[in-house]
Amino acid sequence: MSAAPPAEAKGLRRRLLALYIAVGLVSALSIALLIALLINISQRKQEAKNPFFRVVELTDDTVDPAVWGKNFPLQYDGYKRTVDQVRTRYGGSEAVPRTPSEADPRSVVAQSRLEEDPRLKTMWAGYAFSKDFREERGHAHMLSDQTFTERQQVTPQPGTCLNCHASMYTAYKKVGEGDITKGFEKLNAMPYFEARKLVEHPVACIDCHEPSTMQLRVTRPAFMEGMARLKAAQGVQGYDVNRDATRQEMRAFVCGQCHDEYYFQGKEKRLTYPWDKGLKIENILAYYEENGHVDWTHADTGAKVLKAQHPEFELWNQGLHARSGVACADCHMPYQRVGALKISDHHVRSPLLNIQRACQTCHHFPESELRARVETIQERTFYLRNQAMDALVGLIQDVKAAREAGRPEAELAPVLALQRRAQFMLDFIEAENSMGFHAPQEAVRILAESMHVSRQGQILLRDPKFQPQLPAQPPARATDASTEKPASH
Ligand code: HEC
Ligand code: HEC
Ligand code: HEC
Ligand code: HEC
Ligand code: HEC
Repeated sequence: MSAAPPAEAKGLRRRLLALYIAVGLVSALSIALLIALLINISQRKQEAKNPFFRVVELTDDTVDPAVWGKNFPLQYDGYKRTVDQVRTRYGGSEAVPRTPSEADPRSVVAQSRLEEDPRLKTMWAGYAFSKDFREERGHAHMLSDQTFTERQQVTPQPGTCLNCHASMYTAYKKVGEGDITKGFEKLNAMPYFEARKLVEHPVACIDCHEPSTMQLRVTRPAFMEGMARLKAAQGVQGYDVNRDATRQEMRAFVCGQCHDEYYFQGKEKRLTYPWDKGLKIENILAYYEENGHVDWTHADTGAKVLKAQHPEFELWNQGLHARSGVACADCHMPYQRVGALKISDHHVRSPLLNIQRACQTCHHFPESELRARVETIQERTFYLRNQAMDALVGLIQDVKAAREAGRPEAELAPVLALQRRAQFMLDFIEAENSMGFHAPQEAVRILAESMHVSRQGQILLRDPKFQPQLPAQPPARATDASTEKPASH
């Protein structure tokens, strides 16, 4: 082998040198870019770690959300937008203009549910709900909607109503001289309009956040007590929600403070959640059967009946999302990027107005497909809800006719018990605001059962020897969803 001629070798060296220089330049550039990127990332991380500048000092007495908004302008901005009204097929709400009067200065309200479905008036005959019942709307309206509902004129209401319609934390503290449970008790026992003078804002930052760390916290004694009794029934003594709940659980518990079934206990009108036996409808019914609680006497039939109210927390608990650890805030307050910041959207509303952030973070289907899935669940629930409503109205009409025909009370009594049960089951899904979405199978199970109970009532009226079949227990299942597990953490 002979060496290459000198001229050729020289050319090769020059080309190699050029190549080295080129490679060197490219790598230098890449390194520079990489460094720039790293610096940028670290700056952004820094920004994300310090998502606010403390413009003002917040204390455990700062109620006004506008003051909190100085430190957290993005969250405050979302919070203020809960005034918006947009309708979805089964949710959201419609802005209905009205002429303000001295008694009720609101110029916009939500649509009337009684006008949408007059059967509700038959279901609730004799109760304030048959006078005024509207679609719910955003948090910004909660205090004025409660203050001015016509239900206030039908029956004098207690201060207890305010627990879920106002910023209560500082009012409890003040009235209870530092003890929120004492304040809660005193406020409950006041007439509504006396207690109303002590509060000013709808649910505010301080009701969900501890001001120095911004950690989530539960501020409602009724929820603390309800959870402690639920856990005790499951064998966990001394449960303290603020000490024992996980962060993910808190992302549902802050909402569960208000979005659940409740009643007023005793003459103290203590706000109470009926969870001593569990969160399923049969558990709740068994609880009310045991303590004999009655919300009102049905005007057409004389039945001692119960009114269910917005059991979102209870129904969600029976669904696959709760089972998978997906909390209310995941869908109703999804994360949102604003510049480098990742914040929680404080514009709490229907997730169907925000499918991309509310659902597509977990489900990689097109928006139209996700909407169709929700609406399919809702249409099926609505269909069965209508069947169950017809069955209940049929039962009520039959009892009324039997009463008018002079049927003895003793024969009516077992039928009235069936009306109580069928009504509560239907109302539970009717009053729940997701039209079945939070736990689709559980919702249709309850509706089917309600229908079954109403029809058995009708049979019993025709044949006094008929033996109604009423399962006392819900179908068993292997394990329970997050909040029903004993807290082992
Ligand atoms: C997996 C997502 C998801 C979770 C988790 C979830 N929701 Fe919902 N929620 C929905 C959807 C979807 C609807 C139906 C909205 C519609 O029809 O416009 C809904 C409806 C509602 C509504 C009625 C909204 C309206 O515009 O009428 C309320 C109130 C509500 N949910 C509260 C809760 C609470 C409280 C929790 C937790 C206990 C919870 N949700 C958990 C998805 C979720
Ligand atoms: C345990 C919490 C809680 C208590 C106590 C409570 N509410 Fe509400 N209220 C809610 C929630 C959650 C909604 C929205 C969901 C809905 O309307 O189903 C609501 C909605 C409403 C609305 C708007 C929709 C409608 O029904 O027309 C009015 C008015 C209202 N409540 C009045 C009252 C009155 C009066 C009382 C006292 C008798 C009361 N609330 C007690 C939680 C509560
Ligand atoms: C202090 C009680 C309270 C708390 C806490 C609370 N809500 Fe509400 N929520 C209400 C009331 C009352 C309304 C109905 C207001 C009205 O109709 O005027 C409502 C309405 C809603 C609506 C209907 C909004 C619309 O535009 O139709 C949704 C969705 C909702 N809440 C979800 C949540 C979620 C999710 C949480 C927890 C992050 C939560 N809420 C915490 C009391 C509460
Ligand atoms: C109904 C309860 C509720 C109310 C009222 C509320 N928040 Fe939040 N906030 C949440 C939840 C839930 C999160 C998510 C926290 C988590 O994941 O740990 C959150 C998170 C935050 C965070 C942490 C960063 C982020 O965005 O995730 C800040 C800051 C914050 N909220 C500020 C505010 C301010 C300011 C107000 C009043 C204008 C307010 N919040 C009112 C429930 C609430
Ligand atoms: C944090 C993640 C997460 C978010 C956000 C989320 N989901 Fe889910 N979803 C799940 C998981 C996990 C399951 C259970 C899937 C399984 O085990 O196969 C599920 C199941 C479902 C199911 C089938 C079960 C059922 O209950 O019918 C539907 C439908 C669904 N999701 C729709 C939605 C919609 C619509 C949204 C937005 C409003 C949403 N999901 C938001 C995680 C999520």
